[in-house]
Amino acid sequence: MSPRRQGWVTAAVVLLAVLVSGCERPPPESVQRGYRGLGMVEFWNPRTLATQVSANQAPEALPPAPAGGPPASAVFKNLKVLGDVSVTELTRTMVAMTAWVAPQQGCAYCHAAGEDMAADTLYTKVVARRMLQMTRHINTNWKDHVSTTGVTCYTCHRGNPVPAETWTVNPGPVTAQGMAGNRAGQNAPAPQVGLASLPFDPFTPFLDQRNEIRVVSTSALPTDDHKSIKQTEWTYALMMHMSQSLGVNCTFCHNTRSFAAWDASTPQRATAWYAIRTVRDINTEYLNPLASILPASRHGPLGDGPKANCATCHQGVYKPLFGANMLKDYPALSGVVMTPAAPVTPPPQVSANFAIIYFAVASSDVPGELPSALVPIVTALKNNARATASISGYHSATGDPTQNSDLAKNRATAVQATLVAAGLPSNRLILLKPMSAEANLAGEDPMARRVEISVK
Ligand code: HEC
Ligand code: HEC
Ligand code: HEC
Ligand code: HEC
Repeated sequence: MSPRRQGWVTAAVVLLAVLVSGCERPPPESVQRGYRGLGMVEFWNPRTLATQVSANQAPEALPPAPAGGPPASAVFKNLKVLGDVSVTELTRTMVAMTAWVAPQQGCAYCHAAGEDMAADTLYTKVVARRMLQMTRHINTNWKDHVSTTGVTCYTCHRGNPVPAETWTVNPGPVTAQGMAGNRAGQNAPAPQVGLASLPFDPFTPFLDQRNEIRVVSTSALPTDDHKSIKQTEWTYALMMHMSQSLGVNCTFCHNTRSFAAWDASTPQRATAWYAIRTVRDINTEYLNPLASILPASRHGPLGDGPKANCATCHQGVYKPLFGANMLKDYPALSGVVMTPAAPVTPPPQVSANFAIIYFAVASSDVPGELPSALVPIVTALKNNARATASISGYHSATGDPTQNSDLAKNRATAVQATLVAAGLPSNRLILLKPMSAEANLAGEDPMARRVEISVK
């Protein structure tokens, strides 16, 4: 071989080694989940599966409490959730909660050392009480999703005071101002959407707000029912997150012949439909309102608190902890909430001072009587008599420009009216024309149809 040829061969061998090093070893295994030829296959790698299994083990259950004994409410002074369990079961639940949420800090994480256990001094105890209600609520009212497997504090917390997988509203990376700098909510590869250059915050519109998750139009002719490219991208971003959080590919739920057709989808897609509703429910009813009690260090860049998505419980596995049923060993965490969901009373120092409310197409109806995003705003204004709120309405790019600017204004007025109905004087609720009308987002963008409220 000529030295030159030898050089080529060496280069080829090196190149091959580089290429092969990108392959997974040992070869992944697969299972057919649909009829043959449909490509409904799930792949897994035995090596990574083994690591995943050991990282997702449920801790051993504590020995059961002896049956009987007085109810905890007869002995303890300040129980709003667990009054219905026995005294020994209460103590046992406290021990389990400590191991699941604050193993390093111990009881003192929620009960100030040297103080009566009944005192609600620490914010962590107030949050934990709401968490107990949320856990019971999920286990009782969302069986279509979590079945009888249910959830415990460990499902999300895994030994950490703050769960590893949470999200806050993502305003995106700071960019240069103007047209060139506008990323329109995307083109910044985010780990949440599998590093695709898809919208980096699909959670706000879909897992907090209730925007429709649709790509396929239900009519063949161009009518009002058009779906924009933007809307498609948001949907795909959410789907990437769902697949990644469950460690599955799209065919776990869909037959790719038609993503929309329910009759061609797997039963898991129906479970996932309920799952999306579960997550919306716990985010708006339980987690969002807690933002005002959490310290500022827990808040996202826009002042909202950490919320749940699919990864919070699933952590890369199709069923959290591979379906381990921890709930059956902890009766205190199932059952119906006894007292009506206790209103969360935030302490005076409120840092949440910014909110966004999203609207349906061509609508200026505020979703609900007092959307949870407005709760911290109301509190902030009530706590500081000199504070004012500025309210700015926006619209999406489609439609007639003059009608649109009316629509944006009507949206802002509707939010103002909602705040007046919540007991605030209108002279402290200032309607402010947006700095830029922001018609840059093409088509019918759910993120564009909004009102922004900021407290100063
Ligand atoms: C993650 C927070 C958290 C940790 C850690 C925790 N607790 Fe609690 N504890 C609570 C909450 C919340 C309540 C109130 C439950 C309710 O309202 O039903 C409570 C209530 C109690 C009560 C009843 C007090 C009364 O008179 O109303 C006792 C006793 C108690 N805890 C003991 C303990 C012990 C002992 C430990 C450590 C092994 C512990 N707790 C760890 C959150 C916690
Ligand atoms: C669906 C997932 C989920 C479940 C189930 C859950 N939590 Fe949480 N928890 C969260 C999220 C999200 C937060 C907000 C994170 C933060 O505080 O920054 C949180 C925060 C907390 C905090 C405040 C921690 C801090 O230092 O800010 C406490 C205490 C807590 N949870 C206790 C519990 C207890 C006790 C249970 C079981 C009764 C429980 N959680 C069940 C998701 C969950
Ligand atoms: C865990 C189940 C699950 C996985 C995995 C999943 N999807 Fe979905 N998908 C759903 C559900 C449920 C809906 C409907 C949501 C709704 O109506 O609220 C949906 C809706 C869609 C739609 C909209 C269909 C319509 O009616 O217009 C598309 C497109 C889609 N998914 C594509 C994908 C792609 C691409 C992937 C892989 C990256 C994927 N999905 C992974 C459950 C799943
Ligand atoms: C509060 C915790 C929690 C959250 C958050 C959560 N899940 Fe689940 N999910 C569970 C539990 C627990 C199960 C197991 C139920 C069972 O054993 O059948 C489950 C099961 C499922 C299944 C059925 C899997 C199978 O093999 O049958 C699907 C699909 C699913 N979840 C999708 C989702 C999606 C999509 C999201 C986000 C929109 C999500 N889940 C968020 C707790 C959660």
